[in-house]
Amino acid sequence: MEDLEDLERELTARVVEVADLAALEVLRVEALGKKGRITQQMKALGGLGPDERRAMGQSLNLVKTAVSAAIEARRQVLRDLELDARLAEERIDVSLPARPKEIGRLHPIGQTIDELVAIFGEMGFSVAEGPHIETDFHNFTALNIPPDHPARQEHDTFYLPKDETGERKVLRTHTSPVQIRSMMSGEPPFRIIVPGRTFRADHDATHSPMFHQVEGLVIDRATHMGHLKGTLTAFCRAFFGVDDLPLRFRPSFFPFPEPSAEVDIGCSRVGEQLKIGAGSDWLEILGCGMVHPKVLVNCGIDPEIYQGYAFGMGIERIAMLKYGIPDLRPFYDTDLRWLRHYGFLPLEQPSMVRGL
Ligand code: PHE
Repeated sequence: MEDLEDLERELTARVVEVADLAALEVLRVEALGKKGRITQQMKALGGLGPDERRAMGQSLNLVKTAVSAAIEARRQVLRDLELDARLAEERIDVSLPARPKEIGRLHPIGQTIDELVAIFGEMGFSVAEGPHIETDFHNFTALNIPPDHPARQEHDTFYLPKDETGERKVLRTHTSPVQIRSMMSGEPPFRIIVPGRTFRADHDATHSPMFHQVEGLVIDRATHMGHLKGTLTAFCRAFFGVDDLPLRFRPSFFPFPEPSAEVDIGCSRVGEQLKIGAGSDWLEILGCGMVHPKVLVNCGIDPEIYQGYAFGMGIERIAMLKYGIPDLRPFYDTDLRWLRHYGFLPLEQPSMVRGL
């Protein structure tokens, strides 16, 4: 048998030297495991006479208890050290200023919506929302587009399967159904904008099956085309940051406003370069008009008392024009290099007073 005092001294000395929990476990197995040094000594007791066995057994138990206690104590110390090290490593100073590069970028769509909201908010508009999955009634019929109307074909609608009642819902093809929802659920006057997603079964270099529009709707007792022109002119000038930006209102047709117009903004092209501002060229950016009396009636509003105007434009399109983004497709690619290039710092909130 080994000298038990030496054994205890050696093992407890090594325990306090151990530097980490893994090494401590190795030492525990060496001392107390199935084939450990102390366990071996226990087994060796069988070869001794009864008196010696009792005496040695008691001593050996004391050694075992002492070594186990030393290991437990060391384990606690090492755990505390490990925790301290982790806390030190994960320490953050919350009072440090944010490092802009590390907090990501806002997508140009989100940024453009923030800008729209800032400009129209300043003019007294509030933001309204509606569902992406729409009823045929809200997306078409109430907007004066009855079932056999040719305008339906132009919308490349995504239809959902018929539900239990036989109703076929659609993915909204424009934000105009929110005009209907807002008018049906409230009392005039209305002054809302509706930024949101829209869907059309169309996919090529300049069309995406999911895109964004912003709708505008104003209904009041004495609203006329002059208000529409003034509002859109003020918006476009603020949005593009061109104080004398000319707008051209071209007669057009949509089923839900009457009269309807399409709006172009002035621009000039020098070679590949496109410059927004008074020039020899025009760019179409939105559709608008005076809300059709039938639409007001569909929403329970008396057209003899209330009139108003509506407009709708593509958010990707105005973002591309403003920020010189040449291609539509990367908008939805979640490519971080693109986002770093065209994205915006989240700390710079657009506002009319501080600038967009
Ligand atoms: N909803 C129309 C579209 O998607 C745009 C529009 C809105 C036109 C409001 C007139 C008035 O093309």
